[in-house]
Amino acid sequence: MNYAQLGATDLRVSRICFGCWQLSPRFWGDVPLGPWRTAVRRALDFGVNFIDTADAYGDGYAESCLGDYLASEGLRDKFVIATKFYWTFHSAERHPDTRYEYILRACEDSLRRLKTDQIDLYQIHNWDPLTRPDEVAAALGRLKKEGKIRWAGVSNLNVEQMSLYRGVMDIASLQPVYSMIKRDVEARELPYCLQHRIGVLAYSPLYRGLLTGKYAPGASFTDSRADDLLYRGRAFLRMLDAVNELKPLADGLGLTLGQFAIRWVLTHPALTCAIVGVKAPEHIESIVAAADEVLPVEIWYKSAAIIKRGYDEAMKMGL
Ligand SMILES: NC(=O)c1ccc[n+]([C@@H]2O[C@H](COP(=O)([O-])OP(=O)(O)OC[C@H]3O[C@@H](n4cnc5c(N)ncnc54)[C@H](OP(=O)(O)O)[C@@H]3O)[C@@H](O)[C@H]2O)c1
Repeated sequence: MNYAQLGATDLRVSRICFGCWQLSPRFWGDVPLGPWRTAVRRALDFGVNFIDTADAYGDGYAESCLGDYLASEGLRDKFVIATKFYWTFHSAERHPDTRYEYILRACEDSLRRLKTDQIDLYQIHNWDPLTRPDEVAAALGRLKKEGKIRWAGVSNLNVEQMSLYRGVMDIASLQPVYSMIKRDVEARELPYCLQHRIGVLAYSPLYRGLLTGKYAPGASFTDSRADDLLYRGRAFLRMLDAVNELKPLADGLGLTLGQFAIRWVLTHPALTCAIVGVKAPEHIESIVAAADEVLPVEIWYKSAAIIKRGYDEAMKMGL
């Protein structure tokens, strides 16, 4: 496993991060916990030392499962734990909240569920238009001073939003969506992070599985993917073709398509790590080799062009 320094922090993290969103039954159905726990253990065996979760994943469920397992096995200190706050889920109406008192309470709740006394990376899940950045900074500053969090990061923000936060606090990392299919952050956010030494944790690097090439025509999805145009009808078939076109490139490097997709994101110089969504040990075991190296430049561009052609055509078909 290769490791990287997370931005300007003292955290040294594996280039593959273990993603816990899969423990959100609303989005992913019921994921059996036995194989999931084994996956956490196997991740460690392969050198993965970075885990990403959020309080909102399963309304506390993902954090509780992680905290219980790490505590029962005495593994807390083996991992850098990143979690997030933003969504209140205590009332029937979910809504964002990043006010001072709310953040303090959300952090206490996450610490209790994670069975730890410190969160390594505490991320603002998304932009909250109703709360001033200096109010958020005051709460995070207090948590840092009290030793309840080590570093603060952000997710899903653009350059302007990051700049507003950076005016009042340090930002250790950005967690954006990024894959061969979703490349919006290449234009501005990734260069900004590189320039300002902000670590980058790419989420959905496999486009929720599509880039692994494991789905066949006729596959149907009952989870969060059912709402995605690229997972339906002719658009889905066109994307499967595009992914298959990558096969000779991946084969030439001795990689599976999933490994190729992860190595593709890790090739970007702004990237600290790719967060892979894991349900079972095979998800993590089969992907770790992706972090060994980066792709040759010509292959990076060639594969990006193949997927872009497929995506542009798929979007026309899907609309
Ligand atoms: N900050 C945010 O707003 C945000 C949003 C989304 C995700 N995230 C984070 O990023 C993580 C990853 O994102 P993601 O779950 O959307 O996307 P992903 O990693 O692109 O896709 C995960 C899915 O890909 C398949 N998969 C994973 N590893 C595989 C492997 N080695 N071989 C074959 N298939 C594999 C599985 O599909 P099957 O279920 O079909 O087996 C899995 O459910 C999440 O767990 C979460 O921690 C953050």
